[in-house]
Amino acid sequence: MNKQLTALTQIIYQAGDIIKKNWDKPRKISHKGEIDLVTDTDVAVENFLIQKIKSIFPNATFLAEEQKQTTKTKLEEETFIIDPLDGTTNFAHGFPFVAISVAYAKNEKIVLGFIYLPILNEFFFAQKEKGAFLNGKPISVSKENILKNSLIATGFPYNISTKADYILKLMKKVLLSSQGLRRAGAAAIDLAYTACGRFEGFYEIGLKPWDTAAGWLLVEEAGGKVTNFSNEPYNIYSNQILATNGLVHQELVDLLTT
Ligand code: IPD
Ligand code: CA
Ligand code: CA
Ligand code: CA
Repeated sequence: MNKQLTALTQIIYQAGDIIKKNWDKPRKISHKGEIDLVTDTDVAVENFLIQKIKSIFPNATFLAEEQKQTTKTKLEEETFIIDPLDGTTNFAHGFPFVAISVAYAKNEKIVLGFIYLPILNEFFFAQKEKGAFLNGKPISVSKENILKNSLIATGFPYNISTKADYILKLMKKVLLSSQGLRRAGAAAIDLAYTACGRFEGFYEIGLKPWDTAAGWLLVEEAGGKVTNFSNEPYNIYSNQILATNGLVHQELVDLLTT
């Protein structure tokens, strides 16, 4: 695995170079929905990752955001779960909070997670039972145990209109009970920043496997906790995610479920 791990790390850095190279160029944008964008860079990064990863993991299958076939619900023996560009709206506007998220699942368990922020030069990595790292240094979740002293992150789905009241209700509760609420526009980064202690917690509804797979492992390997809003075990097909340092988890469960 060591050789493959080195190769994978290199591939993800190279994929980040595509985002860096395109950063100052005009964006080519298409619409998947009214406010749901995809750029040529999303597609270029994804194609690059799949092609390169196939050369070192010839038996792997892929669950990747911009592929046509994204409905699969069972992970094969070896599956890569890829968000080539998390934070597409940010990318479209030149807001540098963008990341590549890659998770490797073996026998249905996520064992490697990478979240790379090429513009901010932050490379997050986690390996099952071996810890979580930022630019090679071990990271851990925050030790804050009071929600009122905590900074919490969230995000919204693109099809927000039918769920706006529910989302605003949750936001109001968390705003009134915490030190602050952030919506920075990239779920993978929200999870990585929870793993390294910048956020005490993160919650969102309607995320997809590629948004959360790598970040889930990062948070757990950094000592945090990941569940749905009702404190039940998380899986990448859950409609809700609550990821915290563990210490403010119950307070958030209480807010999000009442
Ligand atoms: C989106 C971002 C955003 C979250 C959305 C996601 P994309 O992913 O992670 O923070 O709120 O729900 O779909 O489309 O930028 O890869
Ligand atoms: Ca995403
Ligand atoms: Ca994406
Ligand atoms: Ca998208």
